[in-house]
Amino acid sequence: MSKSTDELFKNVIAHAKEYGFVFPSSEIYDGLSAVYDYGQYGAELKNNLKAYWWKSMVQLNENIVGIDSAIFMHPKIWEASGHVGGFNDPMIDNKDSKKRYRADQLIEEKIEQLLNEAISKESIFLNKMYTDFTIEELVDIRHVRDYFKNQDTVKRPNYDALTDKAKDSFDFIETNNDYQKAVSIREDFTNALLTDDLSKLRDIIIRENITCPISGTHNWTEVRQFNLMFSTQMGAVAEDADAIYLRPETAQGIFVNYLNVQKSGRMKIPFGIAQIGKAFRNEVIARQFIIRMREFEQMEMQFFVRPGTEMQWYEHWKRLRLQWHLALGTAPEKYRYHDHTKLAHYANAAVDIEFEFPFGFKEVEGIHSRTDFDLSQHQKFSGKKMQYFDPELGEDGKPYGNYIPYVIETSIGLDRLFLLTLINAYEEEDLSTEEKQDSRTVLRLHPCLAPVKAAIFPLTKKDGLPEKAREIMSKLKVDFNLQYEEKDAIGKRYRRQDAIGTPFCITVDHQTLEDNTVTIRHRDTMAQERVPADQLDRIIGDLVSW
Ligand code: GAP
Repeated sequence: MSKSTDELFKNVIAHAKEYGFVFPSSEIYDGLSAVYDYGQYGAELKNNLKAYWWKSMVQLNENIVGIDSAIFMHPKIWEASGHVGGFNDPMIDNKDSKKRYRADQLIEEKIEQLLNEAISKESIFLNKMYTDFTIEELVDIRHVRDYFKNQDTVKRPNYDALTDKAKDSFDFIETNNDYQKAVSIREDFTNALLTDDLSKLRDIIIRENITCPISGTHNWTEVRQFNLMFSTQMGAVAEDADAIYLRPETAQGIFVNYLNVQKSGRMKIPFGIAQIGKAFRNEVIARQFIIRMREFEQMEMQFFVRPGTEMQWYEHWKRLRLQWHLALGTAPEKYRYHDHTKLAHYANAAVDIEFEFPFGFKEVEGIHSRTDFDLSQHQKFSGKKMQYFDPELGEDGKPYGNYIPYVIETSIGLDRLFLLTLINAYEEEDLSTEEKQDSRTVLRLHPCLAPVKAAIFPLTKKDGLPEKAREIMSKLKVDFNLQYEEKDAIGKRYRRQDAIGTPFCITVDHQTLEDNTVTIRHRDTMAQERVPADQLDRIIGDLVSW
C-alpha cells in the first residue's frame, strides 16, 4: 500500500469514528477484536443500503420475495450443508509467539511480497534506462505490471502491440528471479490446495523461510483445520443442552424454507428468495477494519431454476449484480470480476465481484451456481421431499414434472458494501484561494444513501427564526430524516453536514419571515439558491428518491 492510500484509509476509519458511523465494539473495555458497532449515522447509511438492495431485489422483481429466518437453526442443517465437516481454515501456530495464523494467507503474502519486489526492481531498471515516458507508454507499462501481479484476473497484454518500453518492462519482470520464485511457489500452493494437502502447505512455509510477523522466528507447528462456526447451547441447563451453531451464512435459512415460501406464495420456477441478516464466523485473521469481521451482515438471494438452465441464469445474475453496483455512480474501473478456478464442492460456477479498496482488490459479492447440492442434502438429512412440481410443458409436450431445483446465489457482504461506499464518498477537498487557505472533508454520498437528507438552520437564535425553522421542519420530517442545528456560525454548520454527507442545508433567515422563501445550499457544488419553503418537499424528494 503506498503511503497516500494507507493514509487515506486511516483517515476514513478515523472519520467513521469521529462522525458517528462506526465504533469499535465494547470500546470502554478496550474493544472486542473484529467486532464493530454502527453509530447514529452508520446505522442510517446501513439501513439505506439495505433498502436499496431490498427494493432492487424484492420490489422490482415480481418473482422474488423476501424472508427473515431465525439465526438459530437445527444443528443438522450445518451437517447437511457441509459446514460442520468442511467450513475450515488451515491454521498454523508459531511456538514462540503462541500466535495462530492462516497458513494459506502466510503463503499468499509471501507471493505478493515477491511480486512487489519484482515490480519495484523493474521500476528502478526502467527509470535508469529512460528519462521520460509518454502517456501511452505509461498505460502499457501499468497493464504489464497489473498482469504480472494478478494473472488470474488481468488479461495478458498482446506483447507485439506493446510500446518498446513496455516490452522492456515485460521482459524484465518475466525473467526476474523474484518473479520466477513467486510463480513456482504459486504452483506448489495451488497443488496443495487442490489436493487438500496440509503438510504441503507447511512444507512451503518452512522451505520459503516464512517467519512469524510477531516473533520473527520460523518455529512452526503442523497445519490443522480450524472450524469457523461459533457454537453455543440451547436449553436451560448447560449439561443437558444441545450444541447449536450461530449461522455462518444466511443462505441455509432460505433453503430450508424454500418449499414453505413456494407453496404459501404459489411461486413458479424460476423464482427467488431474498434475505438480509447477521452471520457469524470465528475468523482467525480479522483485519482491515470491517472487511473481515466475526459478526457481520449478508444480503443473499437464492434463485431457484429448472436444471439445465442454471448457466443462463448464472450469466444473467453475474451481469445484473455488477450493474447494480455501478448504478450508485462508482467508476467502472474500481470493479472487476474474479472467476473462480477452484470451485467449492457444491458449485459448478462461481465469480466474485471485487472492488478496489485502498489496500487492493477485495471480494464484495459472490455469485455462485450451487447446483441442487443444498436442497438434495437437506432432503437426505431431513428425510423430507424437497422436490418441486413443474407443470409447464417441455418440448416433448409433457410437463417437466418433479425435480429438485438448481440454485443461483447472489451473496453480498453489507459491511464491505458499507466500507466501499464510505471510501468512494470520502473526499478531503482543498478550497484554498489566493487570499486564504481552506479545506473541507465531504462525503459525496448518493442522496438516496445519505444518513441525513437535509439540515435546517435558523440564521440566528432570535427574531422568531428558530420557531419558523422548526415549523418548516415539522412539515418535512415525516418524509425525510432531517437535522435541526442552531449552534455556531453557518459556515461551521455547513462543514459538519458535509462531513456526514447531508445533500442539502436549508437556512431560514429574516426574508423567510416576509416571503416564506429559504436558501438551499447543495453539498457537492456548495451553490446556494433561494426557493419557496413550500417547494422543499418536492426539491428534496426529487433528489433523494430512488
Ligand atoms: N452463502 C454464500 C456465502 O456466504 P461467502 O463468499 O462466504 O459466501 C459472501 O460470503 C459475502 O459475505 C462475501 O462476498 C463478503 O462480502 C461477506 N463476508 C464473508 N465473510 C465476511 C466477514 N468475515 N466479514 C465481513 N464480510 C464477510
